[in-house]
Amino acid sequence: MGIEVVVEGLTKSFGKQNIWQNVSLTLPAGEVSVMLGPSGTGKTVFLKSIIGLLKPEQGRVLINGVDMVNSPEREIMETRKLFGLMFQDGALFGSMSLFDNIAFPLREHTRKKESEIRRIVMERIDIVGLLGAEGKLPGEISGGMRKRAGLARALVLDPQIILCDEPDSGLDPVRTAYLSQLLIDLNAQIDATMLIVTHNLDIAATVPDNMGMLFCRNLVTFGPREVLLTSDTPVVSQFLAGRREGPIGMSEEKDAATLAAEQQFDTAPLLTGPRTVVPQLEPSPGMPVRQGALRRRERVMSMMGQLPEAARTAILNSYAPAAGGARA
Ligand SMILES: Nc1ncnc2c1ncn2[C@@H]1O[C@H](COP(=O)(O)OP(=O)(O)OP(=O)(O)O)[C@@H](O)[C@H]1O
Ligand SMILES: [Mg+2]
Repeated sequence: MGIEVVVEGLTKSFGKQNIWQNVSLTLPAGEVSVMLGPSGTGKTVFLKSIIGLLKPEQGRVLINGVDMVNSPEREIMETRKLFGLMFQDGALFGSMSLFDNIAFPLREHTRKKESEIRRIVMERIDIVGLLGAEGKLPGEISGGMRKRAGLARALVLDPQIILCDEPDSGLDPVRTAYLSQLLIDLNAQIDATMLIVTHNLDIAATVPDNMGMLFCRNLVTFGPREVLLTSDTPVVSQFLAGRREGPIGMSEEKDAATLAAEQQFDTAPLLTGPRTVVPQLEPSPGMPVRQGALRRRERVMSMMGQLPEAARTAILNSYAPAAGGARA
């Protein structure tokens, strides 16, 4: 079963440049979470901070009692073995076959026999739908296949926490839809805690149990997907609608003059239109029930009192029998 990741008061700067401050959130065990945010808001830096590759100046990241910021490096290294990472660019070795790429972490970090390695690698290759391509070099396959190979490699060490940095970048809409389903199926199969960084609004709307957004050096919000999807905070609704009008500009944040000029054209109605919450993806037929989704239902029901009205309604609708009821 996946492991809870607790982030408390995290602040990260590079020199004088503060990236984000006082970020606190909990990735619930075995649930899927998505982090949104305009380019440059520090999403990749956040992932790297969670695994202890970057050191925030303040705050803690607690995993099984180990603080990935301040614990001794030996403990951090040990805890890092719980993670599977899928990088923004796939990060495969160009001169190695897919098989060898995917086998790499096993050969590097375990003493397993080649026969055992072969069994594990082929099983992961099967999960991501790359059977038959294992002998190919990364340069001989499509970008979408490289993404899935990156995901297979993230899975070989039986991770309990999976971090994916823009798994969809460079994929067409159909392949992105397949990838969304793959992420949900994967979660059903291994019950790992997952955090996905993405700009893709379809993934954001259909995959996660929880969503957060980084903007202007702060975590705007983090919580059940329905909270963000129904939010009328301007930065959230602008991002989810992919509009130019609103607080987000080309250099992340618009200056006061630009914002004031926009407001003269009265964009307010644009920012507050009703928004529907599309149903979350279910595991494919034949897959196990998502244990994370079951736990999430309990969890969300117990926090209803603290949620905004629109989010409460959306949650109750999604759990109503008429909505398919397959979630239970
Ligand atoms: N090692 C580093 N040293 C100095 N600055 C860095 C370092 N890594 C990242 N930054 C800065 O931190 C900021 C956030 O970068 P990050 O890559 O996390 O953004 P992002 O949200 O992942 O963007 P994108 O959506 O484009 O991938 C950027 O201004 C970047 O220049
Ligand atoms: Mg990034």
